[in-house]
This record gives sequence, C-alpha cells and structure tokens, in this order.
Amino acid sequence: MKDLLKDPTLLRTQAYINGEWVDSDSGETFPVLNPATQEVLVEVASVAGAETRRAIEAAEVAQKAWAAKSAMERSAVLKKWNDLILENVEDLAVIMTLEQGKVLAESRGEIVYAASFIEWFAEEGKRVYGDVFPLPQGTSRGIAIKQPVGVVAAVTPWNFPSAMLTRKCGPALAVGCAMVAKPAHETPLSMLALAELADRAGLPAGLLSIVPGAHAAPIGDELCSNPIVRKFTFTGSTRIGKYLAAKCTETMKRTSMELGGNAPVIVFDDADLDKAAAGAAASKYRNSGQTCICANRILVQEGVYDEFVEKLKGVVGTFKVGDGMDETSTHGPVITRKALEDIKSMVDDAVAHGAEVAAGGSFGEEGEQFIQPTILCNVTEDMRVFREEIFGPVAPIFKFKTEEEAIAMANDTEFGLAAYLFTKDQGRTWRVSEGIEYGMVGVNEVAISSTFIPFGGVKESGQGREGSSYGVDDYLEIKYICIGDLGAD
Ligand code: SIN
Repeated sequence: MKDLLKDPTLLRTQAYINGEWVDSDSGETFPVLNPATQEVLVEVASVAGAETRRAIEAAEVAQKAWAAKSAMERSAVLKKWNDLILENVEDLAVIMTLEQGKVLAESRGEIVYAASFIEWFAEEGKRVYGDVFPLPQGTSRGIAIKQPVGVVAAVTPWNFPSAMLTRKCGPALAVGCAMVAKPAHETPLSMLALAELADRAGLPAGLLSIVPGAHAAPIGDELCSNPIVRKFTFTGSTRIGKYLAAKCTETMKRTSMELGGNAPVIVFDDADLDKAAAGAAASKYRNSGQTCICANRILVQEGVYDEFVEKLKGVVGTFKVGDGMDETSTHGPVITRKALEDIKSMVDDAVAHGAEVAAGGSFGEEGEQFIQPTILCNVTEDMRVFREEIFGPVAPIFKFKTEEEAIAMANDTEFGLAAYLFTKDQGRTWRVSEGIEYGMVGVNEVAISSTFIPFGGVKESGQGREGSSYGVDDYLEIKYICIGDLGAD
C-alpha cells in the first residue's frame, strides 16, 4: 500500500495518543481490508479502555492550555492543518479509496470537504460572542459568556472517514476543546493520516488523540462513562446512537447524535423530470448508496411515474461499477460482504412481495462486494425498503396521487434527517418543505451538504447541528455572570 503513496509516512498504523504514535498495551492489532478485493491492506493497533483513559487524561491537561490561547492562535494552527490536508489530497484520497471503497473522484471530493470544516471553523472560532442583558435589579447587569465544554469524545463512521472527523473536531478545537476520537474499525487509516498532518501542523500534544480498535465496546464505554469527557458526539446508526446516548446520561454528558435516515425524494408532476431523475440518481447512488442522506424512497406522482422510471434508467445506464482505484469506475463496492447480504435481503423481500427489478439487481458479480445500481418498481409501503435504511445502491420507486399523500408518506417513518422535492410550484415548495418532518430539505437540489449548512436531523435521526455558524454551539457552554452593586455611591 505504501508504494501507492507519494508520502508513505502518511500511512500510520499505530494509535495516536498524547502526541505519540503507540502500539496497544496488549500488542493486539486488527486487519484493514480493501472492500474491492478483500485483501488485507495493513494491521492497525487495537487499543482498549486503558489507552482510551490515558488519551482522555492527556486531553484534560492539554485542553486547559489550549483554551487559554487566543482564538487567533488556535486559528493559525488549524489553518496550517487545512493547508497540509489540501497539499496531500492525492495521497489521502488513495488511502480512503483503498480502505473505504469509494471511487477516487469521490475520495478527493471528501478530502476537500473534510478540509473545508477545518478552514471554516478556524474562522468561526474567532466569532464566539456573548451578551449583556438587563436584570430585575436596576443596579445589576447580566452577562452571558461562551466557554469551551472541555474534553470531547467522538465516534465516527466508515462512510465518510475524514469529513465526519473534521466536522466534529474543527469546531471543537477552534473554540478551545480537546478531542479523543475513535474511527470505525473498517476505516481507521484516513483518520490516522489526518492526525499525522495535525501533528505536522503543530497541534499541541493531547488535543486530538485517535484510538482505533477492533472491539468498539471497551473504547466506547470509556468514552461514554469517563467523567472527564463533558461532551460526546457520534455519527452512525440510530440503534448504536441510542445505546451510546443512554450511557452518556450516567455522567450527564452533552451529546450530539447524527443518526440514520430514510430520505424521501418527492417528484411532483410539474417537476423538470430530467433534473429530477439526475438528482434522484446522484442522491441515491452517491458513495454507492452509503450516506445517511441518500435518497431511500423515491416517491413519484402517478401521472409521471413511468416517464420518470425511464429517465432514471437512462442515468443509471451510464454508471460503471468497479474498483474505486480504476479512474473509469463511477461506483465502488459496499463496505462489507455482510452489508451486501443485508441489502440483498431487502431486495429479496420486495421482490417476494411483488416488486419488479427495473434495472440492476445483480449482487456480487463484479466481485464479492459489488452491487449493480438497482431500481425497484411496483413497490409498496408494506415492504422493508419503505421502512428501513437501505444503505446501498437500490432505489425503490413508490407512487402517490396527491400532495397530501406525498407528505403523509414522507412523514411515515421514525427518521427525519434529509428530504428532497422536485417541483416548479412556489406554493407547493413552501407547503411541502414546512409540512415534512426533516432537519434538511433540498428543493430541486440534492447536493445539500457543505460546510455552510447546519447538518442534522429530527425525530430518531438525532439532535445537534454540524457545520455552519451553528456548528460551534454544540461545543460551547453558556455561563451567566451577574455583576451587581452598580448603583451610584
Ligand atoms: C453522512 O452520511 O452522514 C454525511 C453525508 C454528508 O455530509 O453529505
């Protein structure tokens, strides 16, 4: 794997704790696999509770000194880190494609996206303001100041192994917090490479420690229960998020949870169908369907259903599934064989209940973990593909009659992360955007993610917002100070 990198020292396989690269106490390692070939890329140190505790204790010390620096000083280090990430896009993209599977173009995009959170929050950290307000006693004044929450723990997913770290540590570090982060065991190398660059940028020891491990429980338990950790931030499934959030209540930690989705794409009969088909495909098949905001259910008004399906088939027909390292591939494998089996079982369930495979439908033909981009028609609300997050390149297309029915179908889920609609009607744009229970709505647009936006969901898709000017709030405490005895002598 090193041979493929211009700078092989970016390939780090030890844990990064208190500014040092270390093996696990037990000497245990775990393999990182290439999802395109199932080859073992490298072995990575597998840490547990004791190493995690040391990282947290180091973070506590480092955080105090970091918070005492000015926002300008913190910003300067973060900007250096941002520059180093951008200087190394190509190597970081290769590392990501090899361990995660997404095609190189998507990996490059994610690295730039990841850096943008560092750059954005390096600026935003300078704008942490407070308030002065009147009090019932005319001789007193109230002041609200914002202070860093302290030590933050982060657990991040394999689908965006770099951007989900920086979307959390960018604001945390910018406002004066320290972070201990656990990468997904499928994709630790991207995060470790970013830590190497943070080290080169001069981020002081202990402020960002990385604790990779094959066994999530000992690391997760320490991160959730250690009282030094004041805030826990997680991106991943709703099932795991609920478990971790419950553990965090024992020490009353603040939490931010970016969890699962079941995004509807609602296509009305007044929509530009070419744009709707291109948008639905872009949203559905991005990262081979493995994003929390991927289209999960495509709801199409009955009068344009057949035409829309034909157009979507046309877009899907241009895709080339293959190894992400091949520049001609447009879509890579799914993360594991188990993921492929889970996705297949949802398609089998739909077909058994009368769905028709209008495109794709082949599993494991180009290689163990490859799925042909698939379209399912004649799908109904009693099928698993309506209720469950598919997390793979399968697009079920449902039919609706009226706007009210579309809103009801969109809301008929415990999830509420992202939703999309295609319409040219301004009144409908507002009625539907306000009527659906989602944290983010894209109207005639599916590329809704960026540093500029408050990313997050409602209902069981979680709480908290990442990115934008709101993104610092989750890492700040508000302290009220009452200044009294201000009357004349
Ligand atoms: C996610 O899937 O959680 C992140 C997607 C994005 O940032 O666009």
